[in-house]
Amino acid sequence: MKETKKYIQAPLPFMGQKRRFLNEFKKALSNYNSESVYVDLFGGSGLLSHTVKKHYPKCQVIYNDYDNYSQRIKNIDKTNSLLSQLRLVLANSPKDKKIEEPYKKQVLSIVKEAQNKGFVDYITLSSSLLFSMKYVLNYEQLSKETMYNCVRLTDYNADGYLDGVTVVCEDYKKLFNQYKDNKNVVFLVDPPYLSTDVGTYKNYWKLKDYLDVLNVLEGTNYFYFTSNKSNIVELCEWISNITNFNPFANATVSTTNNHMNYSSSYTDIMLYKVNYLN
Ligand SMILES: C[S@@+](CC[C@H](N)C(=O)[O-])C[C@H]1O[C@@H](n2cnc3c(N)ncnc32)[C@H](O)[C@@H]1O
Repeated sequence: MKETKKYIQAPLPFMGQKRRFLNEFKKALSNYNSESVYVDLFGGSGLLSHTVKKHYPKCQVIYNDYDNYSQRIKNIDKTNSLLSQLRLVLANSPKDKKIEEPYKKQVLSIVKEAQNKGFVDYITLSSSLLFSMKYVLNYEQLSKETMYNCVRLTDYNADGYLDGVTVVCEDYKKLFNQYKDNKNVVFLVDPPYLSTDVGTYKNYWKLKDYLDVLNVLEGTNYFYFTSNKSNIVELCEWISNITNFNPFANATVSTTNNHMNYSSSYTDIMLYKVNYLN
């Protein structure tokens, strides 16, 4: 069988993808095995699901595509075609600079036309037209923004990215209930961060939602992702002094440092634990 590409980042922009953790994640996967079912409860861009499937081609991987990222992947040709039209219109608009009239109007008219034909990937479009990290989700929002000519010069490609992965779209609690009694399951648990920008996610996560997720870690095989900004590990240690409940007890911890700019940085944390597998 033809060997397909191993992606080291999601093929289309996705905020919060676990790109910087892939090496540590792959190393940790060797503690698990290829016969297990891997359930990616908060699949996001599907990068963890893809990575597991590439690591253990025989295993079953369930990718919970809550944001419908796979629809963006399916429509990648439409996105490439839209971007190539924008490149033509912006040929005389300086690269990385503000898009002035009449070009902005022309950009919006092309986007509107694409929308009338059925599909526009506004998140991907945002990374070509808006200031870094800024995202919109529809035409109305886009039309109000200041635009910059950051249109990507090459086509996006996602060939083979979700091959062999089962795509579902459920609330994580429902999906967890379907698999929780199977001892051969490994849960990948990467919930929305509590204290970071959740602008492109469907729901805003309150503390209660964040704490609820801890229920999926009790007595299961898991990978859990968080950051030092959430203080969740410290909170659980503190609570365990009173209640004896600490889902992170005896978990292995791995961290990476992320520098946002010269003065601020944070630490991403991955905790994993094998409760049942041999
Ligand atoms: C931090 S991201 C996951 C990133 C992913 N691991 C990756 O590498 O791309 C968290 C994801 O959980 C999704 N989400 C939010 N509420 C959810 C729910 N109730 N059930 C399942 N997923 C949910 C968000 O929309 C977002 O895609």
